Amino acid sequence: MAFTLNVNGKDHVLPDNTPGDMAVLWALRDILFINGPKYGCGVDACKACTCLVDGVKQTICSMSVATAQGKKIVTIEGLSDMAKKLGIAVEELHPVQKAWLDLDVAQCGFCQAGQIMAAVDLLKTFPKPTDAQINAAMDNVCRCGTYDRIRNAIKKASGQPYNTEYDVNVAPVY
Ligand code: FES
Ligand code: FES
Repeated sequence: MAFTLNVNGKDHVLPDNTPGDMAVLWALRDILFINGPKYGCGVDACKACTCLVDGVKQTICSMSVATAQGKKIVTIEGLSDMAKKLGIAVEELHPVQKAWLDLDVAQCGFCQAGQIMAAVDLLKTFPKPTDAQINAAMDNVCRCGTYDRIRNAIKKASGQPYNTEYDVNVAPVY
């Protein structure tokens, strides 16, 4: 029996020989060529592969294709579509992505898709999160150490005061 993955609102039938215990991460990256979710560790530690599954953050290196049957997966590629469905009109970008760009959060960028998906999940539970709530929820590893900018971007996306030092929309004071 062929497995089907629902990704970003679309059903994808996987090849007949796809094993049920294949991680969703590999089905997405190697079969469907949806490469937003990254591979860092494969053991649910780094969180680089974080996506939303049925609306809740999930590391898809640790979820099998068989387990994912009937579930709705949203990757970073589907985030702006999700925003539109929620009635959030922010051009092509989800507000969290926009805050990330405005504050120039990424350094190498490898962890950032997972960071953004985790932030979207956090803001569903805590629309105006405190630093403590951000620190507790955001357990994604960033080897470049962008944690301050991540915290700032979450504050900005949630309409709270944030450090404007990196904001490309705020004119620098010389
Ligand atoms: S690759 Fe999934 S948690 Fe590290
Ligand atoms: S920006 Fe390089 S790992 Fe996070």
